[in-house]
Amino acid sequence: MTTLAPAQGYALWAPTYSAETAVSALEAAVVASLHVPLAGKRVLDVGCGIARRLASARDAGASVALGLDLTPAMLAQARGEPLLAAADARALPVADGAFDVVWCRLVLGHLPALEPAYHELARVCTPDGLVLVTDFHPAAATAGHRRTFRDAGGEQHELENHAHRVLAHRAAAARAGLSLRERRDGIVDDTVRGFYERAGRLDVYEHQRGLPLVLALVFARAR
Ligand SMILES: C[S@@+](CC[C@H](N)C(=O)[O-])C[C@H]1O[C@@H](n2cnc3c(N)ncnc32)[C@H](O)[C@@H]1O
Repeated sequence: MTTLAPAQGYALWAPTYSAETAVSALEAAVVASLHVPLAGKRVLDVGCGIARRLASARDAGASVALGLDLTPAMLAQARGEPLLAAADARALPVADGAFDVVWCRLVLGHLPALEPAYHELARVCTPDGLVLVTDFHPAAATAGHRRTFRDAGGEQHELENHAHRVLAHRAAAARAGLSLRERRDGIVDDTVRGFYERAGRLDVYEHQRGLPLVLALVFARAR
């Protein structure tokens, strides 16, 4: 199996990315459990992919929902989302303090260093705003689990991932002026058993049950 850099990997994954996975389902559930207020808020989704989570922000009453992503092929799969553009999380084409809620979901593990992205996430967030970061859980990566996908032809690929520990997230965020408000882990449990079953991999499910697959962190601007 080849290991792909993010831009190359997501260009290949884009046509089939809309199918949820155990990781994406756990991520969405853990984010929902955090109850980040969205009604009337300006929401920026950095690394929005096919923009499927932006739709939930609009449904929750966000006043603005902008998505940015490195991979044009992912953005091209976004249906009916008016506000999308190609951009790197480390150099956002956005004014300082322009958003009340800044999301960066399942993106940062693809970056070798956290500081440049946290600097940008903090910069574009209003002083009273919140920054929500999720990541492939460092405990899963350290335990040898990989970020893999099948392309439209059924070939399996691995995506480059860097296991950033929780302390590394906190330190990079703190250097950007963000302080941790809340942390949750998305843990493999019965709610995602069906994904393994449909893939014929209940053996993997039994092995992974109880493993944290997703890390979710909510930060506020430090005062
Ligand atoms: C696992 S997908 C998550 C997509 C979306 N956040 C979601 O939860 O459905 C990771 C996304 O990060 C994007 N990405 C990777 N590196 C990036 C970077 N440096 N800047 C912006 N986006 C990046 C990829 O193109 C891909 O769309």
